[in-house]
Amino acid sequence: MPDAFQPSVLLVDDDVGFVRAAAQIARAAGCRITVAGSLAQARARMRDCDFDLALIDLALPDGSGLDLVDSCDISSTQLVLITGHPSVESAVRALKTPVLDYLIKPLDPERYRQLLADTAARIALPPPAQVDGVHGLAGESAALRSILTQIERVGPTDASVLVQGESGVGKELVARAVHEASGRSGDFVAINCGAVAPELLASQLFGHERGSFTGAAARHLGYFEQARGGTLFLDELTEMPTHLQAHLLRALETHSIRRVGGTEDIVTDVRIVAATNRSPHQAIHDGRLREDLFYRIGEFPIVLPPLRERPDDIPVLASLFLRRLNERYGTQRAFSNAAMDQLRRYSWPGNVRELRNVVNRAFILADGDVIEQPIDAPQVTDPLHETPGTLTIAVGMTFDDIERRMLFKTLRFFENDKARAASALGVSVKTIYNRLARYQAADADDAARSA
Ligand SMILES: Nc1ncnc2c1ncn2[C@@H]1O[C@H](COP(=O)(O)OP(=O)(O)OP(=O)(O)O)[C@@H](O)[C@H]1O
Ligand SMILES: [Mg+2]
Repeated sequence: MPDAFQPSVLLVDDDVGFVRAAAQIARAAGCRITVAGSLAQARARMRDCDFDLALIDLALPDGSGLDLVDSCDISSTQLVLITGHPSVESAVRALKTPVLDYLIKPLDPERYRQLLADTAARIALPPPAQVDGVHGLAGESAALRSILTQIERVGPTDASVLVQGESGVGKELVARAVHEASGRSGDFVAINCGAVAPELLASQLFGHERGSFTGAAARHLGYFEQARGGTLFLDELTEMPTHLQAHLLRALETHSIRRVGGTEDIVTDVRIVAATNRSPHQAIHDGRLREDLFYRIGEFPIVLPPLRERPDDIPVLASLFLRRLNERYGTQRAFSNAAMDQLRRYSWPGNVRELRNVVNRAFILADGDVIEQPIDAPQVTDPLHETPGTLTIAVGMTFDDIERRMLFKTLRFFENDKARAASALGVSVKTIYNRLARYQAADADDAARSA
C-alpha cells in the first residue's frame, strides 16, 4: 500500500537519460515515480491517478507539454515545466500564472530537491478543516441531497450498489462515499474493468496460485482478497468479459472466490460497488452485461443525474473548485455574476469533471481577480442537446429570442411548410410571414449599423 505522505511524482519526458537521473533523485527523496514519454501517455496516467507533482518537458514527441495543463487537476497537482532553453524561462515567467513553476536542464539538483521537499511538506499538511460537502460530495440540488440520503441508508448494509451516470458525474466519488458510510474497516479497492487487458482481469480480480500460468512466478492476491473487510469498486462493469461476469456472480452468491489455478474456495467478506456510464438495460440488450449479474449487483441502484439536470449544483461546485485554487495559490479570484450565469446556462456534456477543468482554465487565464467569461462565448449558445424536434432554451434569453429561434426551428422541422408550421405554433400563416418580415428588417438594420 502506498504511504499517504509519500509524494507521487509524474515525469513526462522522452529523454531517457534525464528521466533516469530525475527518477533516481526523486526516489532517494522518498517519492513514488511514474514515467510518461509522450503527451498521450501522460494523459492516460493522469486519468488513472492524481499526482502531487508533475514534471513536464516542454518539447514532447507529440506536442507541447503546455497542452497538459488542461488535463491536470491543478488544485492538487503542482505543475513544473522543464526546458533545455533558458530563454523559455522568461517566456514562462511572462505567463504570470501562479500555477506553473519551471526547471532548466541540466537540472540544478539543489533546486530540484527543494521542489520535492516542498511537495512533501505540502501534502503532509492537515486537510482543510472545512469539509466540502458530505463525503466530499458538494451540491445543493434536491437530486444530490436525495443521493446523500440513499448513501447513508445503504452504506451500513451489505447490499451491492450499482452507480449509474454519464461520464464525469461523480460515480467514483459516490462509490467512495458508500464505503465511508459503511463503517467497514477494510480498504476501498478500485479496479477499472475497461482498463485491464481482458486476459489479465481474472487473475487481477481473483488472484492466482504460483505456476498457474506462464509468468505466474509467485502467488498473487487478487483485488477481492485485498478488499477483504472493505469495499471492491468495479468501475466500468460492462467492460468486463461476460464469462468473467459469471465468475463474479458466483463470488457474490457464495461469498467466496477461487484463485486462478487454485483448488480451494476462499471466503471473502467484500462489499461490491459497481459503476457504469451505459444504460444497464441497453448493455444487457447488447450482450455486454449478464442479466443475472445485473439483478444481483443492481440490488441498490444509485442514478446520478447529469449536471445540466441539477443546475443548483453548478454555482456550489464552481465556487468550491475556485476556492480550492485560491487556497492553494494564495489568490483571491472570484466569478462575476455574469460568469456564474454563463456557467449555469452551459449544458456540461462532460459534467462535473468538465466544470472543474473549466474553472481551472479560467483561473489560469484570468487577467485580474474577477473572472468574467469562463466559457468561450460560442459554446454557451451551442445547442448541444438539441435534436431536430427540440429546442434548448437557456434562462436569461429574451422572449424575442426564444420566439425567433422557435419559429426558425419549427419551419426547418416542417421543411419550410409555413401552413404546417403555423398550425403547430397555433398562429396564422399571416403571422408567420409578418414575423419573418420583421426579423428580416431587424437584421438589415443590424447589418447597416455594424457597417
Ligand atoms: N458533487 C461533487 N462534489 C465535488 N466534486 C465532485 C462532485 N462530483 C464530481 N466531483 C469531481 O468531479 C470529478 C469527476 O468525478 P468522478 O471521477 O467521480 O466521475 P465519474 O462519474 O466516475 O466519471 P467517469 O465516468 O469518467 O469515470 C472528480 O474530480 C470528482 O472529485
Ligand atoms: Mg469514474
